[in-house]
Amino acid sequence: MSRKALIAANWKMYKTPAESKAFIDAFLPLVAGHTRDEIALFPSVTSLATVVASLAGTEIRAGLQNMHFADEGAYTGETSPLMLKSVGATHTLIGHSERRQYFAESDEIVNRKLHTALKHDIVPVVCIGESLAEREAGDTASVLKTQIQRGFAGITAEQAAPIVIAYEPVWAIGTGKTATPEMAVDAHRIVRAEVAAILGSEIAQGMRILYGGSVKPDNASSLLGQEEIDGALVGGASLVPASFSAIVHY
Ligand code: PGA
Repeated sequence: MSRKALIAANWKMYKTPAESKAFIDAFLPLVAGHTRDEIALFPSVTSLATVVASLAGTEIRAGLQNMHFADEGAYTGETSPLMLKSVGATHTLIGHSERRQYFAESDEIVNRKLHTALKHDIVPVVCIGESLAEREAGDTASVLKTQIQRGFAGITAEQAAPIVIAYEPVWAIGTGKTATPEMAVDAHRIVRAEVAAILGSEIAQGMRILYGGSVKPDNASSLLGQEEIDGALVGGASLVPASFSAIVHY
């Protein structure tokens, strides 16, 4: 089964609305007519409406970097799925390692957010990955399996088709260290097998598994050229139109 790749930009805590618009004005001509892959931008929450407006008339989608699991409530500082949809966004990251590391986001919270996203027809990009200590201890497979089992608890095969997984080894994020294509492919096979064990092989074969962690123009084709790698979640190199478009054109 052929899976259409998703190339996603995680802008983290960078770019004002004006900077976001300037990026898009420069980026759109660089990817005009590019239909091979899907493209999505994940700006800061204050830029989301501007990004959606700037992308009007294109196939490029926008989403939140983090979404609360409740529709509304007394959750200071959070953004709800209804707020995401109200500005015309369609996607959300869930469980990015920086959320897990700095904001105590657990697999249980990831699971609640995943259920919420699917309930609201929001495309969830669920991030998983092992730390350096876990890799060096030989625990990569068990960490990935546990993150999937807990993160996907209660999800049925009927609901699961929209889910995207981003495999992001924590030691490769923002460090300039990239998993080799072989390491990434091995991890993606473990992830796909675990999804198959939980949700069946049809869902697993259709599910897009992105690689993330220091994806740059010069390593994109060796990673994205792998059959098992269905796109990329790009941080640092997504901040500049020329480098992100070069990754899109890998
Ligand atoms: P990086 O970030 O490309 O800067 O390593 C990836 C991510 O955090 O999603």
